[in-house]
Amino acid sequence: MFPKRVASLQFSGIRKLFEAAPADAINLGLGEPDIQPPREIIEAFKNALDRGMNKYGPSAGIMELRKAIAENLKSYRRDVAAENIIVTVGATEGMRIACETILGEGDEALVPNPGFIIYGPDVALAGGKAIDYTLKLENGFCPDPDEIQSLITPRTKAIIVNSPSNPTGAVYSDAVIKAICDIATDHDIYILSDEVYHNFVYEGTHTSFARYHDDTIIVNSFSKSLAVTGWRIGYVATSKEIVEHLAKVQYYTLACPPTATQYAILEGMKIRKQFRAKMLAEFKARRDLAMAKLSKMPSFETPPVQGAFYVFPKYSQGLRSEDFAMTLLKAGVICAPGAAFGSLGEGHLRFSYANSRENISAALDIVREVAEKL
Ligand SMILES: Cc1ncc(COP(=O)(O)O)c(C=O)c1O
Repeated sequence: MFPKRVASLQFSGIRKLFEAAPADAINLGLGEPDIQPPREIIEAFKNALDRGMNKYGPSAGIMELRKAIAENLKSYRRDVAAENIIVTVGATEGMRIACETILGEGDEALVPNPGFIIYGPDVALAGGKAIDYTLKLENGFCPDPDEIQSLITPRTKAIIVNSPSNPTGAVYSDAVIKAICDIATDHDIYILSDEVYHNFVYEGTHTSFARYHDDTIIVNSFSKSLAVTGWRIGYVATSKEIVEHLAKVQYYTLACPPTATQYAILEGMKIRKQFRAKMLAEFKARRDLAMAKLSKMPSFETPPVQGAFYVFPKYSQGLRSEDFAMTLLKAGVICAPGAAFGSLGEGHLRFSYANSRENISAALDIVREVAEKL
């Protein structure tokens, strides 16, 4: 018998679906930029290998990269230093060790529903209990601070937030962010803020929860911003005390993040602004195209979204999202069923626009045809 915390884990519904996809299907299920990383950082990676960066490094990551990340975060908080940063193996590992570090047995963490698939399992693996808060279409998929307030108990240790959001594409307003931070400050709880899409904001600017709440643990990554999902480099930014504990947990998990990759990412930090500008313009055009197409489908309700690279329409056909996604798959379009992101994702589909405009257009034409027939 395996322990419940492991036996109860399931592979995500998305993965199951992708495995059944025909080879020529158009993929609007992607959770990663479809483009390759900048040439310069591929060269930097090769150079790092040639320069002998093939050995263990420090558990919290190489100091040069920690310093560069801290420098970059000075716009959030002026007092941030390298000691506030730990380099992780993507946001996935960052979120995992953050949960293990701050949650005790039976502690509660509030998680978004619908929300990214790792939060509930991360809380459970740490021995905690995930309590859902709702993201409603009529609120533009933004959390309701009153609801968050009502869910807090003496066992609440953290609120997990994700803006820009996967799967909804919502970017929370400053007012909502501040209201949630005020609640966290009043109750002396952590905010665990997954900001992996911070570079994908099409209107306005990204606001970090760290701006308004001292006990914020930022979980971030280079996966999306430098289009290097396979390189597995991210970071956690928080207090020096928490970073020290995170480094211990990380040491016993993976010894250290990969050394050569960190030098390549360091190079990427020098050119990320130009790369981002190009990528953002293209993704904005794709977002506009997807929204224009979806707005012409009467059975789909698609609220405007400002970030990440997903749209999350609600459909009026009365079938389960997994069945709808499977029907689309057979017609040649891969998307993610809303139910994969929590019970409140049921009745929605997640389309990623990390694909060419041509493919987005062709795929959404197929979606319209299928939707009209159902
Ligand atoms: C909201 C969110 N957080 C975290 C991750 C994981 O990112 P990483 O590749 O840095 O582990 C993803 C990947 O899709 C994501 O969408």
